[in-house]
Amino acid sequence: MRVNVTKSYEMKIADVETCLIIPLFEKDFPLESAVLAEEDELALQALADKEIINGTAGECYYYPRPTGQFKGILVLGLGDRKKFLPETLRRAAGTAAAQLATNKITQIFLDISHYSELPAEAFIEGIILSQYDFSIYKQNDDKHPAPVKVEETTLIIRDDYDPEPMRNLIRISVLSCLSANGARHLANTPPNEMTPVALAAFAEGIAEDSGCECTILEPGQMAALGMNAILGVARGSAQPPRLIILKYHHSDDAKTVAIVGKGVTFDTGGISIKPAASMHEMKYDMCGAAAVLCAMMNVVELKPKVNVICVVPAAENMTGDAAQRPGDIIKAYNGKTIEVHNTDAEGRLILADALAYTIDKYKPDMIVDLATLTGACVIGLGHYAAGLFSTDDILAESLRQRGDEVGERVWRLPLWEEYERLIDGTHADLCNIGPREGGAITAAAFLKQFTGDTPWAHIDIAGTAWGAKNIAYLSTDHASGYGVRLLTHWIMSLN
Ligand code: BES
Ligand code: MN
Ligand code: ZN
Repeated sequence: MRVNVTKSYEMKIADVETCLIIPLFEKDFPLESAVLAEEDELALQALADKEIINGTAGECYYYPRPTGQFKGILVLGLGDRKKFLPETLRRAAGTAAAQLATNKITQIFLDISHYSELPAEAFIEGIILSQYDFSIYKQNDDKHPAPVKVEETTLIIRDDYDPEPMRNLIRISVLSCLSANGARHLANTPPNEMTPVALAAFAEGIAEDSGCECTILEPGQMAALGMNAILGVARGSAQPPRLIILKYHHSDDAKTVAIVGKGVTFDTGGISIKPAASMHEMKYDMCGAAAVLCAMMNVVELKPKVNVICVVPAAENMTGDAAQRPGDIIKAYNGKTIEVHNTDAEGRLILADALAYTIDKYKPDMIVDLATLTGACVIGLGHYAAGLFSTDDILAESLRQRGDEVGERVWRLPLWEEYERLIDGTHADLCNIGPREGGAITAAAFLKQFTGDTPWAHIDIAGTAWGAKNIAYLSTDHASGYGVRLLTHWIMSLN
C-alpha cells in the first residue's frame, strides 16, 4: 500500500473506487473536512441530526453515493475525545478496512486537517494489519476470490503543516506492519514446512538482503559448546535444531541490545505429550522467533544507533525414540544442571542455552526475550496483554510504555526470590518445572538463572501471539505478529 501525506489543494484523485474518510469524535458536530462537497456535508449533517451518525468508537458509517469527487464517504467514529488512544484509531481503521473491502475501494483519503493531533500512523497500521491474508494454501477457485485491498492512502493535513515529521512516522509504521505481517506469515506456515532449518534460511535471507551478519550453529557446533538443553529438546525430532544469530552493528561505542525469541517450530509436549484437541495450535510455538526475526528486518532498514543481536534457538519438540525422558538430567551452556521433569516445559530449556550463550559471547547491555512460554500466562492475563518479567525497572518501564503506544501491551508480574526456590532441583541444580500455581512466574524464574547480571526482560507472549477476539485489525484465524512493533519501537527509542 502506498501512503502519501498531502495538503488538500495538492490532492490527486485517481479514476478508481475512491473513498473519503472523515474521523469524528463523539457528537463533535459539525462534521469538518477540507474536501467535502457542500451538498454531502448537508446530507451527512442530516444523518447526524437523526443520530444515525454519532461518532461513537467503532462506529463506521459508509455513505455510498456522494455528489462530490469521491465514490464514497466513510465517517469513522473515534468515541470520547478524552478517552482517545492511538489504539482507538488503529481499531477503527480495522473496522473501516472491512467496509472498504465490501465496497471494493482501492484508494482512500483520510482527512485529518481538522484533527491535527490525530496519530494518523495508527490508522495506517490498522489498515495494513487488517489487510493481511493467508490464503496461499487454498486453491484460488471462485469460492475464494482474493479480497479487494486498498492500494493507496492519502492523508490530508492542514495547509500550514509540515508533512515531513508525519512522513517519517508513517515510514516506520508501514515497515513495522509489513514486518508484523511477515511474522504472522512465518507463524501461520504449517509446521511441516516451517522447520528449524526453514527458520534459519529465513534469517539468512534477511542477512543477504541487508548485509548484516548471520551465523547459524548446527548440532555439532552446539554440542561442542555444551548447549545440551537445546540438543535435549531436539532429540526426539527428525528435524535438526539450529541456533540462529543475526548481528546488526551500528558502532563500537553504541550500546548493544540482544533480542531472543523462542523458536519451537512444533510442540507436541514430547514424552510428556499434550492432549490432541488444540495441539495443532502448537505450530505457533515459534511466534517469539518470528517476532525477533521480523523486528530485525526493521532494524536493518531503519538503522537505529544501537547494536542489535538477534538470537533464535530453533527446535522441534517431538516424541521420537531418541527423545529426552522425564527424569533426564542435562547440563546447560552455563554449566548448570537441569532435571527434566516435564518434557513439555521445553521453551525454558532452549532459552536457557540461548540466553546464557548470548550474554557470554556478545556481552549485551540488556537482553529481552519473547516466548510463547506458558499456558499459565494465558490463564492469568488472557489474550490482551503479554506477561512481563524483568530484573531491571527502567527496562521494564520502557517496554511497558512502548507497548501501550503500539497497542501491544505488557503487564508486569513479580520475580521474587521465593519463586526461585520452587524450581530448585532434587538431583540437579534446577528442575524444569515448578508447581502448577504461579506457572508463568516460575518459568520466568527459571530463565533468570541464565541471565547473570545483565539487565533482562522476559515477555511471555503465549496469550497475545494468537487468539485475541474483538480487535478489528486482527483476525482470530491467524497469528497476531505480536512483538514486532513493540520491539521495533522500543529499539528505535533507545537511540
Ligand atoms: N508452548 C507451551 C506453552 C503454551 C501453551 C503456549 C498454550 C500457548 C498456549 C509450552 O511449551 C508448554 O507446554 N508449557 C507448559 C509448561 C508446564 C509443563 C510447566 C504449560 O504451560 O503447560
Ligand atoms: Mn511445551
Ligand atoms: Zn512450547
